[in-house]
This record gives sequence, C-alpha cells and structure tokens, in this order.
Amino acid sequence: MKTIDELLAEGVAGKRVFVRADLNVPLDGGAITDDGRIRAVLPTVRALVDAGAKVVVASHLGRPKGAPDPAFSLAPAASRLGELLAAPVAFATDTVGESARSTVASLADGEVAVIENLRFNAGETSKDDAERGEFADRLAELADVYVGDGFGAVHRKHASVYDLPSRLPHAAGFLIATEVGVLKKLTEDVERPYVVALGGSKVSDKLAVIDQLLGKADRLLIGGGMLFTFLKAKGYEVGASLLQEDQLPVVQEYIERAEKTGVELVLPVDVLTSTEFPDLKTKAPAHPNTVAADAIPGDQLGLDIGPETRKLYASKLADAATVFWNGPMGVFEHPDYAEGTKAVAQALLDSPAFTVVGGGDSAAAVRLLGFDENAFGHISTGGGASLEYLEGKTLPGLAALED
Ligand code: 3PG
Repeated sequence: MKTIDELLAEGVAGKRVFVRADLNVPLDGGAITDDGRIRAVLPTVRALVDAGAKVVVASHLGRPKGAPDPAFSLAPAASRLGELLAAPVAFATDTVGESARSTVASLADGEVAVIENLRFNAGETSKDDAERGEFADRLAELADVYVGDGFGAVHRKHASVYDLPSRLPHAAGFLIATEVGVLKKLTEDVERPYVVALGGSKVSDKLAVIDQLLGKADRLLIGGGMLFTFLKAKGYEVGASLLQEDQLPVVQEYIERAEKTGVELVLPVDVLTSTEFPDLKTKAPAHPNTVAADAIPGDQLGLDIGPETRKLYASKLADAATVFWNGPMGVFEHPDYAEGTKAVAQALLDSPAFTVVGGGDSAAAVRLLGFDENAFGHISTGGGASLEYLEGKTLPGLAALED
C-alpha cells in the first residue's frame, strides 16, 4: 500500500487530489454534535495543502436514498472543515455535475473544496458493478490522484471507496495508516491479558466479531442492549428488555465455547431498569431501579449496567495489557443511564493498558461524556470498519489501495 508520504515525496503541487474521507458526523438540526471524524482527516488535508495540491474532499453522510436530500447535505461538514483549517473551503452542491466540475476547476494550488454527499448519486452504493463503475469514471474526471482516508467506510464496496482507486494513481492517507497499524497490533501481536468490552444494542451486529474474539481475547465483558440476549441465553428472565430471540442458539453456543476454551465471558450482575425508555430530548429524570441481573421484573426494561457491575467491569479491566472497547454499556445519551459507559471509559483511562476505542458510538460517547480523547491509546473513527477488520474480513477499501 503506497503511503501518503511516498506520494508527497513524488510531488503533488498543482495536481488535483481526491481525498475520500469519512465526514459522516452526527447532526442535530443541522448542527454537528461531534466533529471527531472531520478532525481525523486534517493531517492528510493539511499535508496536501502544504504541498500545493488542489484538494477535493469527498464523503458520504447518513444514508440518503441515491438522490439529493437536504437533510443529509455535507455543507455543515464543509464549513466545519474550513473552520478547523482556518482557510476557505469551497463547496460544490452536487457530486459530479456542473457545480463539482466548476468548483474543482477554479481551485488554485493549496486550496480545498468539498463536493456534496456521494450518496446523493445512486451509483455510489449500487450493487451493480457497471453502475458503480460509471459513477467512479465520472468522479475520476475530477482528479489526477486518489487518497483513501475514509477509514470508517473502508468496509463498504462503494464507488468512491472501491472502484475509484483503480482509476487513478492512489495512496493511503495518514488516518488509514494509523487505524490499520493499531488494528494490526490487536490481531497480530496482541499483548496479554487482552480484554474486550462489547456493548451496543444489537447482538446480531456483534456475532461475527464475538466468534473471532473467542479465539483471541482472554476476557470478554458484555454490556449494552445485547447483554439481555446473553442473560436470556443463560436462562434468566429479562422482562421487557431488548431481546433478539432468534440469536439465542448462537449466543448459547458462544457461552459454551467460552467455557470450553477458557475465555472468561463476563456478564452483568445487576442492571438499571425502568418501565419505560427515557426521554432523550428533555432528559427528564428517569428514576431507574437497580435490580439483580437474574431477577429483572416482567414489566421492566434494562437500560444500563448496574453499580456492582460497574465495579466488576472496572476490576476486570484493571490488569489488562490491551483493551478493545466497542459499544456503549447503556443508554448513555440520558444522564441516568450514562454511568455504565462512564465507568468503562474511566477504567480504560485508569489502566496502563494499550486502549483502543472502536466505533462511532463509543467514540462519540467518550467525547460527549467529557473525557479527554487524547488520554486513550487510540480512538478509531470506524465502527463497522474496525469490527469487520477484527472479524478477519477483507475490507474493499483497503484491498483497493493495495494494488
Ligand atoms: C459509519 O458511520 O460507520 C461509517 O460512516 C459508514 O457508514 P454506513 O454504515 O452508513 O456505511
């Protein structure tokens, strides 16, 4: 994989460089609530600017349906990029149309433009190779060189991620190089004990990675909405909690496999519950109950790990040499259910281990809960991408940069 350093050494002055970033940031009424992904691509953009390239930044945002949709415009991300660069950033209101062509054509050396959300064009995400290829051909007309730096999207076989690199000289940006370096460390020469904390709502999203981790990690701590499928698989009643009934046989097999192989699979001993889901807008006090994990009342739903579990998980993280954490422990967006996620984040900070926070949600949680992100070993910008890497899958966006 050619690095951006090699590209810069060859010289990019006056060249149009297409940077495929992941500017898929959370928005609330048009305002960016976490700009971590924009900041993550700054080193690459700055280096290209300093080298005199004409920089064309492109990304997806959300999941629009292949046509323009103002709710998913990249305009807020473009203006935030300008603020962070402390330089004007031009914005094209389409992807490969008149606006994109004229915006790119009017860039001077060292200037930056952002083109509109790539997913406003159906060719970006199409399953049809020819349709994707056609869109990639048109994107290729906007640039002389391609830099892949949208780590959060490398698991997508999309036109700008997978098809475009083969049409232009290409290299990996600084963010992709860093992310891959960290994930290699977790998969190839991990320091032990290797402890993994997994949360998030759906167990089905995590099955493949749990399958892999049962052969790699020394200890697995389970939290988030998916913990209730584990509790049910152990034979406990989970009341009105989130439950993926169809996943029970797989989870039961994982519990048995962990016992056989000596992987310590740790489940909560207590949980916070309520009869209703909290109001995330008003954040009105929710008055949760603390109940034993094997005695959740029938009318209650679990919304966070409980105080004893917070202590237990902190102690299970304390002696780790390496920690990977993906997924919040509870509904951290509400203050009454944020303590579990906070406790895991704090345990990571207190530990001398090499700590990797993987994923959009856990990374955003760390920042929104006020933790200093620089105190963690590495905060990945990719949720699905980092999980699929750990699952051992070939990621299309990395494969495309290889050759
Ligand atoms: C993410 O948020 O994980 C990436 O930006 C990829 O987004 P996607 O899941 O919509 O492809």
